[in-house]
Amino acid sequence: MQCSMAKIGILGAGNIGKQIARLAAAAGHHVLLSNSRGPRNIPYDIILELGENGTRSTAAEVVAEGELVVVAIPLANYDQIPQPPAGTIVIDAGNYYPDRDGVIPELEEGRTTVSELLQAHLPEARVVKAFNHFPAVALTADAQPPGTPNRRASIVAGDDPEARATVAALVDEFGFDALDIGELAAGWRVERGTPAYLPRFTRDELAQKVREAERQHTR
Ligand SMILES: NC(=O)c1ccc[n+]([C@@H]2O[C@H](COP(=O)([O-])OP(=O)(O)OC[C@H]3O[C@@H](n4cnc5c(N)ncnc54)[C@H](OP(=O)(O)O)[C@@H]3O)[C@@H](O)[C@H]2O)c1
Repeated sequence: MQCSMAKIGILGAGNIGKQIARLAAAAGHHVLLSNSRGPRNIPYDIILELGENGTRSTAAEVVAEGELVVVAIPLANYDQIPQPPAGTIVIDAGNYYPDRDGVIPELEEGRTTVSELLQAHLPEARVVKAFNHFPAVALTADAQPPGTPNRRASIVAGDDPEARATVAALVDEFGFDALDIGELAAGWRVERGTPAYLPRFTRDELAQKVREAERQHTR
């Protein structure tokens, strides 16, 4: 299924943001790329690489103009994300690293998940978790055309089924099979420290790893 989105806004121009930008441009979308320090500081290499498929933007422009928004910034900065128009689909590729993000007791105690925190900050958006369990380099290294047998798979999780289906279609366009694991609350099953986190898995293998996950409570 082809995703009809045309303008994809990306918050974050680091490891993950640049890789998502490459996949989106390769799939024929226009990319708005932003960072925290303003458009002048977005790495010029990625802008040259994207050519006419990419625009250096502010975070405010990304959320206002992106038909779909990707969050690829540290979790500690989620509270800086401006509110997008109601109903906007927001893909969350983020993870929790306490050394980087600070200790977040609700996550340590297993009372919520990374993407539920983003959904709570963006109550009118439709947050879908995807790609968080990939190493950034794999986004381009492992992408394969739709229909390729034994492709690498990404989970999709979200509270809105239509948004999950849209993101699943985008995942397929980007080069991966999609495994729908249901609501955002299931996201802990692919967060840091779980069997699904980082290695390459096909959809069937990923489903098995998702089932094998055990919730870690560090407190
Ligand atoms: N690296 C990986 O392999 C990988 C894989 C899966 C998931 N993730 C997750 O993806 C997220 C990003 O990781 P990363 O490795 O891509 O980080 P990174 O290379 O450090 O890049 C972070 C980017 O976020 C930007 N940023 C920070 N706050 C922002 C804000 N409020 N608005 C807009 N942009 C903002 C930074 O801009 P400035 O440079 O201007 O501050 C930078 O461009 C993290 O949650 C990480 O755990 C990473």
